[in-house]
Amino acid sequence: MKGEGMKSEDTEPLRYMSGFGNEFSTEALPDALPKGQNNPRVCPYGLYAEQLSGSAFTVPRRSQRRSWLYRIRPSVTHEPFHPLNFPAETLTADFTQGVVTPNQLRWRPFSIPSEPVDFVRGMLTICGAGSAASKSGFAVHMYTATASMEDTCLANADGELLIVPQQGGLRLFTEMGLLEVAPREVVVVPRGVRFAVDLMDGPARGYILEVFQGSFTLPDLGPIGANGLASPRDFLTPVAWFEERACNFTVMHKFEGQLFAATQAFSPFNVVAWHGNYAPYKYDLARFCPVNAVSFDHPDPSIFTVLTVPSDTPGVSVADFVIFPPRWTVAQHTFRPPYYHRNVMNEFMGLITGMYEAKRDGFLPGGASLHLCMTPHGPDTATFESAIRPDAEQPAHLGRDTLAFMFETSQTPRVTPAALGATNIDRDYYKCWVGLKSHFDRDWRPAGQQPAAEAGADAERERQGGGGAANGVERAAPAGANGPVTVAR
Ligand SMILES: [Fe+2]
Repeated sequence: MKGEGMKSEDTEPLRYMSGFGNEFSTEALPDALPKGQNNPRVCPYGLYAEQLSGSAFTVPRRSQRRSWLYRIRPSVTHEPFHPLNFPAETLTADFTQGVVTPNQLRWRPFSIPSEPVDFVRGMLTICGAGSAASKSGFAVHMYTATASMEDTCLANADGELLIVPQQGGLRLFTEMGLLEVAPREVVVVPRGVRFAVDLMDGPARGYILEVFQGSFTLPDLGPIGANGLASPRDFLTPVAWFEERACNFTVMHKFEGQLFAATQAFSPFNVVAWHGNYAPYKYDLARFCPVNAVSFDHPDPSIFTVLTVPSDTPGVSVADFVIFPPRWTVAQHTFRPPYYHRNVMNEFMGLITGMYEAKRDGFLPGGASLHLCMTPHGPDTATFESAIRPDAEQPAHLGRDTLAFMFETSQTPRVTPAALGATNIDRDYYKCWVGLKSHFDRDWRPAGQQPAAEAGADAERERQGGGGAANGVERAAPAGANGPVTVAR
């Protein structure tokens, strides 16, 4: 964002307010918030009062989401909106038509263009369900950007955006203030909040989950207790920041997947003070406190849920944002990688850094995979063969830079023609499982029940990492005498 004019403060360092879903109050100028009421006849400093409602007026109090903005000129002051032609029809918010496939899908890293492309123009819809028009379902997008948004902002009427940077830091100008978000952090922009994206350190790439219904919230912890996973205090919301700047500004409005543009003669980032609980926030994924198995077996990946969008069915989300963070893996007599799986839910995965524990090859940072309802998936051949070796019994660390994530959804997404026809789609993905060979041994017997002549052979198979007897709890070996080792992956 360029230009001169009065600004509320220098942008370095940015300041944030801590907490999830709090009722925040913030002023860039002293006493800018009205005292004791929301909408006085004349506001302090001659500001306009404007409410931004993120929930229906009459929802239960616990679901109320709204903020009051006090701004130099109101957001209603603009020329009429006109449709924008979006390049190659790569953006959509209606999945009533679309492609379904039971095949596993994977994309190699999405290439970053060489020409100037900003965050909005660089969005490519991969898949989704429902439609923005019906306020049902979601969309998954990739973004690649090589240019900052210049005197342009976006307001997304279609839903709430969870942005997951994979490469390149982003500075977000929002009506509520400034945010900076780097890879390994995420940011949520509520429906309708105007924002612009500057690139902080060169080309940028990342993932977006857009939910047409509901909004992101923290999962309940159940028996985990009061602590663990994502802590509310680690979610950061910007303090009020404004600029009073005359310019030819374009406000883009995404409405049912279409982009519209309107011009106005001033910056929309002119909110001097605001209060409420409807605002963007960021979260550092390194703050996530994983809870996992410390004895045996593999918890379901829901144990790594950072944020969830509940549906009307208890326990079933519209979408979950799940991460697979760096951590120790210690479960004994256990196949430690993610299990082979078919799921009524749908799993879109991305990789931010490092190597994902279930894939030795082909799943790369900036790429993605998609396994739809009941599509089989799981560790590739190399991962399986490695994980059944006896030395995989020792405590190990997955590597400090590994960070994968999953958007898990209840409605089955349809894939866009643009994503299916992308040049980086991996048409050989299925081959990563073709090499899984049979380890079946019809003569296998539980420990202690083999004929004497076969006991030695069974022990030999175990020593070599094969044979079903390794799954017998009674045969479990304790951790190696040499202590923990770090597995470089
Ligand atoms: Fe799965």
